[in-house]
This record gives sequence, structure tokens and C-alpha cells, in this order.
Amino acid sequence: MTTHACITGIGSYLPERILTNRDLEAMVDTSEEWIVARTGIRERRMVAEGEATSHLAVRAAEHALADAGVQPSGIDLLVLGTSSPDMIFPATACLVQEALGMTCPAYDVNAACSGFVFALHAGVTAIESGRASRVLVIGADALTRHIDFADRTTCVLFGDGAGAVVLEASDEPGVLGIVLGSDGSGAGLLKIPAGGSARPVTPGGARDASRFVQMNGNEVFRFAVNAIPTATLEALEASGHSIDDLAWLVPHQANQRILNTVEQRLGIPPERVFSHVETTGNTSAASIPLALDDLYTSGRIASGDLVALVGFGAGLTWGAAVVRWTKPRSTEEN
Ligand code: UT7
Repeated sequence: MTTHACITGIGSYLPERILTNRDLEAMVDTSEEWIVARTGIRERRMVAEGEATSHLAVRAAEHALADAGVQPSGIDLLVLGTSSPDMIFPATACLVQEALGMTCPAYDVNAACSGFVFALHAGVTAIESGRASRVLVIGADALTRHIDFADRTTCVLFGDGAGAVVLEASDEPGVLGIVLGSDGSGAGLLKIPAGGSARPVTPGGARDASRFVQMNGNEVFRFAVNAIPTATLEALEASGHSIDDLAWLVPHQANQRILNTVEQRLGIPPERVFSHVETTGNTSAASIPLALDDLYTSGRIASGDLVALVGFGAGLTWGAAVVRWTKPRSTEEN
């Protein structure tokens, strides 16, 4: 009998501090009108002093484990997608493992904003191969730590957060099709050049643009509006389904204009494309599980619904998963 991976638990966490467009107006030459018109974002969350990616990940994981009714000791593997780890090493997954009192193997995956879909792929593969029965998959990022709040082209876009799912082995299909892609020829389009072995951060840490997120926004936009439809259609084909079968498309929440373009290109009605980018901004690897958890806790997704999760990001990377939702509709109000 074929073993499938099903999502049996989901949870998310946003840090408390809210950074509004008005706050940003006081920091750089921008305006509420420009940010809303060009991105759809009105506010985003930001980690507090002393708070790091692992703290967000732990909170999201606790919610997901409770939702699944699984004890931390029942998890066989922890995979965490992040590009803003607490430290270069150890892996943030190991810090999360310790905080949750787990003993299973734990590692990070860095595929930037596609990190959750890449981590999900690792979890699904482990379950389908029989090497694990229960996997905790987390997407977590605190990119505001790597943003130059004097650079108006990037500081208005990003926010912090975490989302997590518990995957369990099942006879019933859950994750039906999953595809990934990478194209290193676009590595220069979105990057944090310094802080790694190529350009170590120097003692004293002088203010230097290479320490912060740098992006060619127009090129990344062009890439996104091609990558999302292509990856979605590939994952649908791998699962034997079409756009019309989807209850929800849950894309990486980067920019409302990207989502609007994707809707047109895929010919999918806007009411079936989930967006809450207005209140989260771009939370990188956290974005897809945060969006999925919002759909779930607000009771807008029910058992049997077909959902496509699709991400894109630095690398360049992209990935999509088509999932048969197997949990009952949540009655909890968001
Ligand atoms: O997870 C993946 C992460 N990245 C993305 O998804 C980013 C994809 N790209 C985008 O979302 C868009 O390209 C941006 C939102 C980043 C920029 O929007 P745009 O419509 O492509 O604007 P633009 O870069 O073409 O800039 C238009 C103008 C420029 O001024 P000039 O040269 O026309 O005088 C910019 O300097 O807007 C200016 N501008 C701003 N003005 C006010 C750029 N940022 C701002 C700002 N406030 N925050």
C-alpha cells in the first residue's frame, strides 16, 4: 500500500509589534498611498528586541502540535525553512528542537521565500519513503533584522512571522503533487551579500549596504508572475488535477499586484486566491503556512478541499504543492 503525507496540524505566530505604513513615512521618503497602490501592504509585524526567528518558530510549532494532538516526543523529523536563522550555525531547527523538548533529527533548509515548500518537500519525501511517520515542518523568518530601514525600496515590503504544519503518514492522499525549481543564474537579483564566507561581517560592523537585503524589484516581479502560474500548473498536472478543481490557491504573500497578475494569467477567480498581505507584508518562508492557518482558523477551508500552495524567492527558487485538505472545517473565529 502507498504511504501518503497528510497535514494533521497547523499553527502560526506573528510577533506583537506592528509597523504601519505611517510609521515608515516617518523613516523614509515614502507614503501610505504609494505602498498600498504598489504592494497592497498596510502593516507588517516585527520581532521585538531579544526576539529571534527560533522564538517565532517555537510558538507556531506549539500551535501546530496542539492542533494535531501530537506530543513533541512523537515527531520523527523537524525541517525548518528559513533564510534568517538565529545564527549561521547551529541550525535554528536545533534551537527549536531544544525549546520543544524533542530528540529527533532537526535541520534547516534555505530556499528564501520558497523555504516552506522546500521544507514540506523534505517532510513529504521522508514520509512517503517510510523513513518517518510524523514530521514537523516550519517556515519562519525575521527578515526585518536584515532590512535597511533607510532603503525605501525594500523596507516597506517585509515582515516577520512563522507557520508550521504536522505531517503524518496516512493511507489517504494528502499532499498529492509537489514540484520544486531553482535557477542560480538569478542569484544576484535578491540577496544579502555580506555575513557569509564570501564577505564576512567585519568587527565593528560599519553601516554598509551589503549587510542588508538588496533586490532588483522589477526583475523579481517579472520572475514571480511567471514562476507562480508555471509551478502551480506543474503541481496540478502531477496530481492529476486542473485549476478548476482548486478550492484555494495559496500563493507566497509578497505583493497584491503579483497576485492580481497571477489571477489573470491562471484564469482563476480572485475569491479563490488567498491574500492577507495587507496585514502581514512579505514574511518570506513563513508566508504560506501563515496564510494557510488564517484560511483554516477562519473556517474558510473544509475537509475535501483541494489547495495549491505556491512559493517563489531568492535563489532563484520556486515550488508548489497540491494538497487535499483532510481536516474538518475549524469553528474557531479568527
Ligand atoms: O519574496 C520575494 C520578494 N520580492 C518581491 O516579491 C518583490 C517583487 N517586486 C515588487 O514587488 C515591486 O517591484 C516593488 C514593490 C518592489 C516596486 O514596485 P514598482 O511598481 O516595480 O516600482 P519601481 O521599482 O519601478 O519604482 C517606481 C518609482 C521609482 O521612482 P522613479 O525612478 O520612477 O522616480 C522608485 O524610486 O517608485 C519609487 N519608489 C518608491 N516611492 C515611494 C520605490 N520604492 C518607493 C517607496 N515609496 N517605498
